[in-house]
Amino acid sequence: MNNKKIILTGDRPTGNLHIGHFIGSLRKRVELQNSGNYEPYILIADVQALTDNSDNPEKIRSNIIEVCLDYLGVGLDPNKSTIGIQSYIYPLTELTVYYMNLVTLARLQRNPTVKSEMKQKKYGANVPVGFLTYPISQAADITAFNAEVVPVGEDQLPVIEQTCEIVNAFNRIYGETLTMPKAMLEQNKVCQRLVGIDGNAKMSKSLGNTINLKDDSDTIKQKVMSMYTDPNHIHIEDPGQVEGNTVFTYLDAFATDEQIKALSEYSTLQEMKEHYKRGGLGDVKIKKILNEILQQILSPIRERRKIYENDRSQVMKILKDGSEKMLTVALQTLDNVRTKMGINYFKDKSFIDKYTN
Ligand code: TRP
Repeated sequence: MNNKKIILTGDRPTGNLHIGHFIGSLRKRVELQNSGNYEPYILIADVQALTDNSDNPEKIRSNIIEVCLDYLGVGLDPNKSTIGIQSYIYPLTELTVYYMNLVTLARLQRNPTVKSEMKQKKYGANVPVGFLTYPISQAADITAFNAEVVPVGEDQLPVIEQTCEIVNAFNRIYGETLTMPKAMLEQNKVCQRLVGIDGNAKMSKSLGNTINLKDDSDTIKQKVMSMYTDPNHIHIEDPGQVEGNTVFTYLDAFATDEQIKALSEYSTLQEMKEHYKRGGLGDVKIKKILNEILQQILSPIRERRKIYENDRSQVMKILKDGSEKMLTVALQTLDNVRTKMGINYFKDKSFIDKYTN
């Protein structure tokens, strides 16, 4: 008997995954996978990535394997988690079309996630229809696998809410069919949305302020040393600000007191913060501590990633097998959906009896 809870989540393959992804969701996925209580499905969402990259398909193509390598590097295990490519799972697009009738234009335009992304991309009325409607295709992703749990970043909550509305509408009109999902958020607020190394509100590839999971150890060190701290903390003896100081934000996200104790004369992070606030603790020193901690976390990830980098045909096989498995599940859901909608004509005895002779 399989009573594991189904998890569905995914990422757009627009670039390498970074430590913001790791702390905000990948770490949790691995934990859920290893708990034995969940059955995770993970989508490399190339169809969704194309909604705002239609002119640059090579960017998406080149990142399919890269994202999969990042997954395998952090410890997602193909024997426990199924990783698949969205476009291969073609029933998702058909589900999307049916769900489109259950959502209004006004509702999509009100979606805070879509709204802020549209603003950031300066789309206005020239938004690609596919982009505006990506929350509908995401509802297809989630429902196709009967997912109960969707671990996402906080910025995706309105998109999951949209899925819940679609599930409600579908089940009300056509009868109980789709599983109602629930978003699962990382509990630690600092981890939900990691700031960039420049102190910018979000770590993001397009802002060029990331530390990538595959960065080598020199690159990590150099990025940490360039991090934004407290611009008024000029001399070591000056009192320093901890709030809004990126190095401390990262320490909050990544460091345990045990690590701080092992790497410094402080027994807790709090103690280290107090010293910085009083004055007398320099930026170079706090950066060195952070660098050590990040190196400890990222070096095993990079090593595991390397093993797969050297065996890319195995990665292809993992993706192919995962995609096939996900296709089978999605076809089953699609068949159900078509039946409930009354459009599964050739399998529908009552249709045949009623309308043929
Ligand atoms: N929209 C998600 C993001 O940008 C990626 C995604 C696609 C996703 N399909 C999904 C997340 C289904 C959760 C569930 O991060």
